[in-house]
Amino acid sequence: MCGIAGCTGDSAAAEHVIESLKRLEYRGYDSAGITLGGTLLRTVKVSGTVDHLKKTLFSGDHRGTRGIAHTRWATCGEPTAENAHPHLSCDGGISVVHNGIVENFSELKDELSASGHVFLSETDSEVIPHLIEHYYDGDPLRSTALALRRLTGTFAVAAVFARHPEVIVCAAGGSPVVIGLDEKRTFVASDVQALSPYTRRIIRLDDGEIALLTPGAAQVYAAADLQPRRKEIVLLPAETVSSGKGGFEHFMLKEIMEQPVCCGNALKDRLDLSRGMVVFPGLGLSVRELSRVSRIVIAGCGSSIHAGLTGAYCFEDLAGIPVSVEQASEFRYRNPVLEPETLVLALSQSGETADTIAAVREARMKGAWVIAVCNVTESTIAREADSVIPLLAGPELSVAATKSFTSQLIVLYLLALYAGRGRRLPQETVLRLLREAGDIPALVRRVLEQAPLIERLAKRYAWADDLFYIGRGNLYPVALEGALKLKEISYAHAEGYHAAELKHGPMALLDEHVPVIALVDPACEAEKICGNIRECRTRKAPVIVFAADGFPPDGPAVRDVVRVPACSRYLLPVVMAVALQLFAYYFARARGCPVDRPRNLAKSVTVE
Ligand code: G6P
Repeated sequence: MCGIAGCTGDSAAAEHVIESLKRLEYRGYDSAGITLGGTLLRTVKVSGTVDHLKKTLFSGDHRGTRGIAHTRWATCGEPTAENAHPHLSCDGGISVVHNGIVENFSELKDELSASGHVFLSETDSEVIPHLIEHYYDGDPLRSTALALRRLTGTFAVAAVFARHPEVIVCAAGGSPVVIGLDEKRTFVASDVQALSPYTRRIIRLDDGEIALLTPGAAQVYAAADLQPRRKEIVLLPAETVSSGKGGFEHFMLKEIMEQPVCCGNALKDRLDLSRGMVVFPGLGLSVRELSRVSRIVIAGCGSSIHAGLTGAYCFEDLAGIPVSVEQASEFRYRNPVLEPETLVLALSQSGETADTIAAVREARMKGAWVIAVCNVTESTIAREADSVIPLLAGPELSVAATKSFTSQLIVLYLLALYAGRGRRLPQETVLRLLREAGDIPALVRRVLEQAPLIERLAKRYAWADDLFYIGRGNLYPVALEGALKLKEISYAHAEGYHAAELKHGPMALLDEHVPVIALVDPACEAEKICGNIRECRTRKAPVIVFAADGFPPDGPAVRDVVRVPACSRYLLPVVMAVALQLFAYYFARARGCPVDRPRNLAKSVTVE
């Protein structure tokens, strides 16, 4: 799970490749490396981030018109400089960066070692340059193709050869590779965002393709027989990536604060108040077709699955469609039953999560219509699905999902109204719910105004190493998401539970050292969750309540209450999620954690 980048034909190759690599750090940031040069290859590798690599590289010789580089999220071998990519052949004349997993690396390593190859790292990837060296007969393309045929697993690779000073060979086999072209230079990277500062003309490699890059040109072949392939050059829209923090200390806080605008974007052009309708341009499914759907399967990972769990309440309640929410990682391995009328929603901020990609492929193979709900419309999931609903949240750079999560909630809510309109929801009800939806940006703004209060509270509890989040109804998945946010960025152990489930085990852990965060909708089973809060207080657990206005004044005696604006029960998850994001952010900040780049994590998980 890594990012690869390369450039040939520019004397500033090092600068370009490092800039591309920075844009790929969402794929991993625990070690990095670069190979530069023509007939003499120079490789610099570090443990740590791309910034660390940049400092090390630019304090020495960084000349060269060709370079390949890599940012890593360690899978096989610790994140040390030795295990960082690029990896070299025995004679140092072939250098390779790899994204993916070589599943049969042990047997390949044994075979290559037996014929004299010496390995310097613990990684699976290091077998690739040695295999290429083994097959090398003067043709960089053929030797790479022969080597790749020996691999089982997944790969995106880029390789340079000292004997071919301007060439980069790259290939895709289950991990994405894009090539960028301008008149004199050619680039390669794991995604288009990494290329957008340099060119808008790109070629995507399909799996099973290999390409020979020279300055200003790319020739693509089928890796199996090296027959040339004609590839379309796609023109990308102008660069949209905002790279700065906009004056905020962290991207996460900036992205939390952007949510009124993002929520507005998710709604914009989709609410037709004059006709009391939701519109989804380009969905490819009419209200009537959607009303014939017998079941919805929602697949995703991480925060996306929590958004899916929340959306399930809307689909069942508003449209009367049964929903199952699936961990994408499990979906394709348990032979899921998909009837022809099953609709599959693939939720993914990045659109590059390996498990969710696999779920999309499985669902399409079984004949289901797949809608991708994605923030990155150029992503693999968006391209492979039958249709796409863009989240329109703008680039999300902090590892923890925030604005993409609330945008997912809104899109799912609107989709439930769209489906409900064709089934059982009267037009007046749809119109009323749409008007309420239009208030979301203002509601979110009111939560953000409470940031100082939430910050004080988070600082007060930042000592806690174990916390529980509890909720009922559609606030239960929000409790799961709140706990996920906290644990991923603060390293405190936090678990989300249905409030009623606490007494089936976890309550044994409660005492004065384990705070419980209770999410309360005063309009929905309030007395039940108040009972659950009393049970926690009886066990001396400090309780922090996050409640919509109207939290019963005769409720349990709780010192710390964050009040979020009262709103429709379908919208409360959005409002509540924002408050919990702020809590997690300030809690992690008080503990001195690297909020945007938590240890061991990556923004996009591209391995299964
Ligand atoms: C990683 C990220 C999470 C994200 C999950 C799913 O684990 O750290 O924040 O929720 O992947 O990502 P996706 O892009 O598919 O929504």
